[in-house]
Amino acid sequence: GQTLHLGIAGLGTVGAGVVRLLRENAEAITARAGRRIEVVAVSARDRNRDRGVDLSGLTWHDNAIDLAADPKVDVVLELIGGAEGSARALVEKALSAGKPVVTANKALLAIHGAALATLAGENNTSLLFEASVAGGIPAIKLVREGLAADHLLRVGGILNGTCNYILTAMRETGRDFDDILAEAQALGYAEADPTTDVDGWDAAHKLAILAGLAFGRPVRFDSLHVEGIRNIAACDQAFAREMGYRIKLLGSARSDDAGQIEASMRPCMVPQSAPIANVDGVFNAVLTEGRFSGPMLIEGRGAGAGPTASAVVADVIDLARGTALPVWGMAPQPEIACAPRESLRG
Ligand code: NDP
Ligand code: HSE
Repeated sequence: GQTLHLGIAGLGTVGAGVVRLLRENAEAITARAGRRIEVVAVSARDRNRDRGVDLSGLTWHDNAIDLAADPKVDVVLELIGGAEGSARALVEKALSAGKPVVTANKALLAIHGAALATLAGENNTSLLFEASVAGGIPAIKLVREGLAADHLLRVGGILNGTCNYILTAMRETGRDFDDILAEAQALGYAEADPTTDVDGWDAAHKLAILAGLAFGRPVRFDSLHVEGIRNIAACDQAFAREMGYRIKLLGSARSDDAGQIEASMRPCMVPQSAPIANVDGVFNAVLTEGRFSGPMLIEGRGAGAGPTASAVVADVIDLARGTALPVWGMAPQPEIACAPRESLRG
């Protein structure tokens, strides 16, 4: 088939990781996609920054939005980040032009996903976001495809690699919160503004996306209950250990028979013997419970260049093969607000 031409906006941890993966694994990707996949155009802020990948021969756009109008570009990859600004403008412009978009941007999806899904539908194009939840774990495919036949009662898990890395390192070494955060940033795990990670927002964005897919309609992000790990001290971890527990930042979204949804992201005490208590470091765990499939827990690397690029390129392969699904896997539904916190169980 014809080569699929990509335009990449954002050449940081994820964008540069995608360029590298596409090159290093080109042969296998071509075989699986049934056609060649090639990057033709890119955009980032600083043209002169060394990104560890060869960008020669590629068209450089100073303004990312120009990728949407570049006639050479078949698919736009939005790897800038942030719910507003250039990322949102680029995605809207590309979808409006009928160009498929692949993004890793959970903030954008959690807040504007419903509107963007409608825009994609109206323009008969695709919006794909496997990398937005749990890095390398195929969480979106799990919920939307693997469990498509089931009636899901619950989704959640450990959904932020930075927080899990910090909690693990604090527990194992007793080191300072700020030192460990700096390490997670250096490893490419943290968001541009790491308070997004530490205060639970990033994990909550992912939970809102998963809940929307699991329960068949977008969840209003501002109705989630969100707490982060900023106030967890080394002594809390020691206290938890004495009692046979570990502290994890856990998300849980449930739907009752009436279709009411409860969702929270907060630090929880988990018995040391529970499998999820042993998911450590940058690893995430995606937890589902279905009426038919029962409980399920999948763990893997939740952040970093390699795992995230793997998820981004899996979406690109879906587009190349023509197997991409609409956002909700069905017609768009109205947004729903979660029930207030008082009604949260356990
Ligand atoms: P980085 O901060 O490493 O990279 C962001 C990139 O965007 C940089 O190359 C930057 O340019 C570029 N950029 C910023 N503003 C603009 C703009 N206005 N126009 C064009 N380019 C711009 O972020 P990450 O790679 O870590 O994250 C990218 C996205 O992927 C985010 O949505 C993030 O939430 C998501 N994500 C990240 C994961 C990770 O592990 N890091 C995992 C899963 C998702 P320059 O380099 O010149 O400054
Ligand atoms: N900052 C995010 C994390 C990146 O630490 O999990 C992956 O989405």
